Amino acid sequence: MIGLMIPLAGRVSGGRLVSLLGQWRDQGGRQGSAALAAGIRLLMFDGQLPPGTTLPAERELAAALGVSRTLVAAAWDLLRDDGLIVSRRGSGSRTTLPAAPPHTPFPERNQPIDFATAAPAALPGVGLAVDAVRGAFALELAGHGYLGFGLDVLRERLAARFTVRGLPTTPDQILVVNGAHHGLALVLSAMTGPGDRVLVEQPTYTNALETIRAAHVTPVPVTMPEEGWDLDGMEAVLRQAAPRLAYLIVDFHNPTGRRLDAPGRERLAALLRRARTHAVVDETLVELDLDGDPLDGPPPMAAFAPNQVITVGSASKSHWGGLRLGWVRATEEVIGRLAASRRAFDLGSPVFEQLVLAELYADPEPMLRQRRAEMAHTRSVLVDAVRAHCPDWTFEVPRGGLSLWCGLPAPIGTRIAVAAQNVGVRVAPAARFSVHGGLERRLRLPFTLPPPLLVEGVRRVAGVAAGVTGSSGTLGSDGLIPVA
Ligand SMILES: Cc1ncc(COP(=O)(O)O)c(C=O)c1O
Repeated sequence: MIGLMIPLAGRVSGGRLVSLLGQWRDQGGRQGSAALAAGIRLLMFDGQLPPGTTLPAERELAAALGVSRTLVAAAWDLLRDDGLIVSRRGSGSRTTLPAAPPHTPFPERNQPIDFATAAPAALPGVGLAVDAVRGAFALELAGHGYLGFGLDVLRERLAARFTVRGLPTTPDQILVVNGAHHGLALVLSAMTGPGDRVLVEQPTYTNALETIRAAHVTPVPVTMPEEGWDLDGMEAVLRQAAPRLAYLIVDFHNPTGRRLDAPGRERLAALLRRARTHAVVDETLVELDLDGDPLDGPPPMAAFAPNQVITVGSASKSHWGGLRLGWVRATEEVIGRLAASRRAFDLGSPVFEQLVLAELYADPEPMLRQRRAEMAHTRSVLVDAVRAHCPDWTFEVPRGGLSLWCGLPAPIGTRIAVAAQNVGVRVAPAARFSVHGGLERRLRLPFTLPPPLLVEGVRRVAGVAAGVTGSSGTLGSDGLIPVA
């Protein structure tokens, strides 16, 4: 992707590549150079040829494979055209990541820099997975395609990921849905009724507040303190407001980027059990541990209260939002209820995208590592840009997630968001992350854009902030910035 330096990752010999390629001549009906290119693409996608690997010379590989040098050269041409290898005279060819797609260059004034959406572009592996599943898709065409619970192989792989993360899970405990947001809407429709209350963190993910309100239930906020979570406050709300449900983001909370530690999870679980309250725990950002490996982090919240916690997860931030796929993990009984209530809304998720996601989860680690490295890089670019251009802003560098939750020197958050539109930048006013508005001393800046846009966006926002003082503004009808 733009701005990512691909380090050298060693050399693969002709002999080794031949054994990695295995039955390369049989690549889903492809022949000759196309089959060889497809085989190499798959190895890259599987992480067996990481970006930066030096490939054998054409002559060496041709001899090892027992094919003509022209065939290898033609395969190299195909991979070069896809942006998957680069070749230099004298130093051969190496694997790389395709450049950012042409629609992400520097936007003109009429194409705003989008700081309102915290969602990265797809990793190249998503496109490769699309190629890889064509054969499997052809087989699915023989069935009716209505998969109310989801594609079996995807449910198996998602269950396996939960199990690896420390929460033993069977495929029957997984419901594939159209994004975590859909998962939350389903749980609300199945488990709450008009007038019920739902405990939420404040601030919280703004679209979740919209869904909660749309379900005619009342969000009851518990304010996040300077650090961590206010578990005493949660205990009081659980006791006094008797909410039907809690909606919590304990793994890289949006927007603060915090993660609740294991003792905190233990205590929260005890509170939920005592109050007999179910919690929807939103794990959309759980794989985005930018300073470590999520497998070394605390076990999933549901491991602490298996009967109380309904987990919603998503491919949107780890892989791509355009897949529009997520999942709910709960007891089999709850999954059955959710699947039944789903029928009022839709009759299943698209099969092709589920095959793609199943492919991505066949061996998820290489791409998840790649996503974390990419976001750790853009996080440092944004941190440096804010420090350089907005020296009086404060923030903690978040361990995970996708945004900086900035503290402003004055209550000017909404005014900045309003004025930023005039300089071609979309920013989400922090008030949108709150049940009752306010939070004027805060601004969320995601680090999901390519580095040059991050730097330019911050430069423009800093200029706006310098010109804005005093009381907060309001967003007019054209200011209804959709936030994600
Ligand atoms: C905490 C959280 N939950 C849910 C979503 C939406 O997820 P999906 O695209 O899977 O519906 C987002 C997107 O920003 C998010 O940050």
